[in-house]
Amino acid sequence: MAPAAADIEDEIKDEKNPPPLDEDDIALLKTYGLGPYSTSIKKAEKEIKEMAKKINDLCGIKESDTGLAAPSQWDLVSDKQMMQEEQPLQVARCTKIISPNTEDAKYVINVKQIAKFVVGLGDKVSPTDIEEGMRVGVDRNKYQIQIPLPPKIDPSVTMMTVEEKPDVTYNDVGGCKEQIEKMREVVELPMLHPEKFVKLGIDPPKGVLCYGPPGTGKTLLARAVANRTDACFIRVIGSELVQKYVGEGARMVRELFQMARSKKACIVFFDEVDAIGGARFDDGVGGDNEVQRTMLEIVNQLDGFDARGNIKVLMATNRPDTLDPALLRPGRLDRKVEFGLPDLESRTQIFKIHTRTMNCERDIRFELLARLCPNSTGADIRSVCTEAGMYAIRARRKTVTEKDFLDAVNKVIKGYQKFSATPKYMVYN
Ligand SMILES: Nc1ncnc2c1ncn2[C@@H]1O[C@H](COP(=O)(O)OP(=O)(O)OP(=O)(O)O)[C@@H](O)[C@H]1O
Ligand SMILES: [Mg+2]
Repeated sequence: MAPAAADIEDEIKDEKNPPPLDEDDIALLKTYGLGPYSTSIKKAEKEIKEMAKKINDLCGIKESDTGLAAPSQWDLVSDKQMMQEEQPLQVARCTKIISPNTEDAKYVINVKQIAKFVVGLGDKVSPTDIEEGMRVGVDRNKYQIQIPLPPKIDPSVTMMTVEEKPDVTYNDVGGCKEQIEKMREVVELPMLHPEKFVKLGIDPPKGVLCYGPPGTGKTLLARAVANRTDACFIRVIGSELVQKYVGEGARMVRELFQMARSKKACIVFFDEVDAIGGARFDDGVGGDNEVQRTMLEIVNQLDGFDARGNIKVLMATNRPDTLDPALLRPGRLDRKVEFGLPDLESRTQIFKIHTRTMNCERDIRFELLARLCPNSTGADIRSVCTEAGMYAIRARRKTVTEKDFLDAVNKVIKGYQKFSATPKYMVYN
């Protein structure tokens, strides 16, 4: 009895204070719960994985982000055949949705020159994609709606969007401080800080009319605006809207604004707007009616959209006096910005801008040159710079001297005076 009791006591002591496990014990414990071959199975599995990876590498199959197979495995021939077997879709218009937002919604479509049908959806479209009045693509057998289509916009209108930003910046516009300021106020402020207008409770101006004699930088400034803004810029030349058939021009204007409205922010620039914006009159024959209708559509579109919607309209013309008063009234074009002849300081600046890239003698007195060109426009000054360069080329020199500039001033400003239309246009502006 006594030794057994001592044993138990020993055990209890041991439990309270177990001896630390040595490495052999740990190895033994680790084998607990393992099947007889588990380690070898694990090893084999790892090897198989490695082998599979090696084989894949050798075959050239890789995982790609696009999910496309490697080009060597493309089967273009059968793909082409499959594409050919797939039938082209037909364009239809969804005119009505019967019991919308339910399980068994049906769609009334109108296929032009064929008939109207009540159809269901194909398996690739969701009911939320389809709205009433939308253009849709339907297949030719069951006339099921297969894809929603964007609204139809004339390709010649789509082409007017300026995609490549012109490289003209505000720095390339000499003088015109006031004009730039006015333009930016209308174009940039409502887009960047719309809350200011909401707080005050006024509508931001919708559009700007730029007018002035030729060559004073109207188109140039519009290009600078296009360069600065992230908004979509649509450039329309007035004469593009004059079309052969009745109603075409007005339709183009409508599609233009439809496209503009689909953008987040958009600036529409009508250059040489006098081509379509002339005052209405009756010539007794009705020849100009079409042009007038186009203009009226612009008037209508200017009224139609919400001013806080981000469409701004810029227009440029030489002859503001010929424009129709309806187009010019406040509420349609709120701002009129005059581009006058540049003053002395501006002329100096324009000289500097145009000689920036030229290889000139060092201290040329641009102010003197500017003084010698009174009443000249930015375009005249640019021409002076080009002519000065021509003199240098003629004399086989690599730099342009001040003498070249003085000769050029004589030639351009004095010599071409009879071609200058600026005084005539100053009367109109
Ligand atoms: N303020 C200016 N600063 C720098 N360059 C100018 C300036 N004004 C005109 N120019 C030069 O004159 C050229 C013609 O100007 P622009 O095309 O802007 O004329 P415009 O006012 O649109 O004339 P139009 O009414 O005949 O279309 C420009 O390309 C530019 O080189
Ligand atoms: Mg112009």
